[in-house]
Amino acid sequence: MKNSSVAVRSVTKTYRRGQRRVTALLNVSFEVWQGELALLVGPSGSGKTTLLNLIAALDRPDRGEIIVGGSEITGLSRSAAALYRNERVGFISQSPELSPTTRRSFWLTSRPAISMTTTRARSPSCYRAPAASEARA
Ligand SMILES: Nc1ncnc2c1ncn2[C@@H]1O[C@H](COP(=O)(O)OP(=O)(O)O)[C@@H](O)[C@H]1O
Ligand SMILES: [Mg+2]
Repeated sequence: MKNSSVAVRSVTKTYRRGQRRVTALLNVSFEVWQGELALLVGPSGSGKTTLLNLIAALDRPDRGEIIVGGSEITGLSRSAAALYRNERVGFISQSPELSPTTRRSFWLTSRPAISMTTTRARSPSCYRAPAASEARA
């Protein structure tokens, strides 16, 4: 049986900007299975960073749930979220303020992915590659 690695269920996230509310994610659901490589693609402002911040427990959704490795992470305390990030989450940032080594490794690893992202969608899409074991079969 396939095991779910990341399950995002009906997630909504809004930000407050002055008097206005910005809906970054509205009722987003998807699942990534164990061993899958998933690419999240979409135009600027479509909510990719917001979604990754939620999956990494750096922020909380307004509604919905996120389950990683069988555990619900949306209700974690600050210290439990820090432990989760330390043990379960790997982040390679594109931000140039990080060390030159980190920046270089981002570009090296992301270039093949970027060449695949030619679609124009209004909300982030999740592209899937077969798990390594399936690709070899
Ligand atoms: N901290 C924030 N405060 C207010 N609005 C935000 C904030 N972060 C993101 N947004 C808004 O949420 C939407 C999604 O942004 P983001 O997740 O950064 O998209 P992407 O990473 O796909 O470019 C955009 O409209 C953006 O302006
Ligand atoms: Mg972004």
